[in-house]
Amino acid sequence: MSMKQARKAAVLLLLLAGTSSAAAAPQAPTAPAVDAELMARSDALADRFQLRLQTALRTAIAEQGLPGAVSVCSTLAPAIAAEESAASGARISRIAARNRNPAARVPRDVQKHFAELAANPVEAGKPAIRVWETGRGASATVNYLRAIPMMGQPCLSCHGTDIDKPTAARIAALYPKDKATGFMPGELRGAMLIRWSRSAPAQPD
Ligand code: HEC
Repeated sequence: MSMKQARKAAVLLLLLAGTSSAAAAPQAPTAPAVDAELMARSDALADRFQLRLQTALRTAIAEQGLPGAVSVCSTLAPAIAAEESAASGARISRIAARNRNPAARVPRDVQKHFAELAANPVEAGKPAIRVWETGRGASATVNYLRAIPMMGQPCLSCHGTDIDKPTAARIAALYPKDKATGFMPGELRGAMLIRWSRSAPAQPD
């Protein structure tokens, strides 16, 4: 075990000890059993995923215009999610109740948490986050869900109420069942879902 790993293990033990005593204390009955390191990793991964998507989107709009960017987004967004999943060992995806890509539907076990984000997409000035655990033993999973609030431009050009004809036509051609228009800034557009398997080997930093 390297120094770094040893330090991580020690921090984890402290956190675990802290969590169990907190759980027993009457003033903190709902202390989450998720350690701070996994939270920090999830935050960083979500930031990275979002930054890559936004950079790809900006470049595509600048180089190809809006209709072209719709096509670029349709191949790049799933590819970036797959790459970030492989690199981190987590399963990362974007989901939405009113989705564009039908594969982005909200899984059953996430619906309750997604509804909470929809009610309050922003908490304390930041996109709302929910973290919870499912399963036990080898199938235990830590789930991290972070709100993607609808913003102004460029989001409105492709998800708002007034989408120009060529862009709307490209969206309709690629996503005949599109449900992701008519959004107002501040509404919940969707969320990033990161699932960590407890039994997966730890990834190197
Ligand atoms: C050029 C058009 C375009 C712009 C601008 C755009 N999007 Fe999208 N958006 C898309 C397309 C196309 C998809 C489907 C991608 C896929 O197939 O995975 C999508 C998917 C999404 C999803 C995933 C869930 C779903 O519905 O499939 C979210 C969340 C999202 N967009 C949020 C945003 C936000 C927030 C902005 C502003 C920063 C934005 N989009 C700007 C075209 C666009």
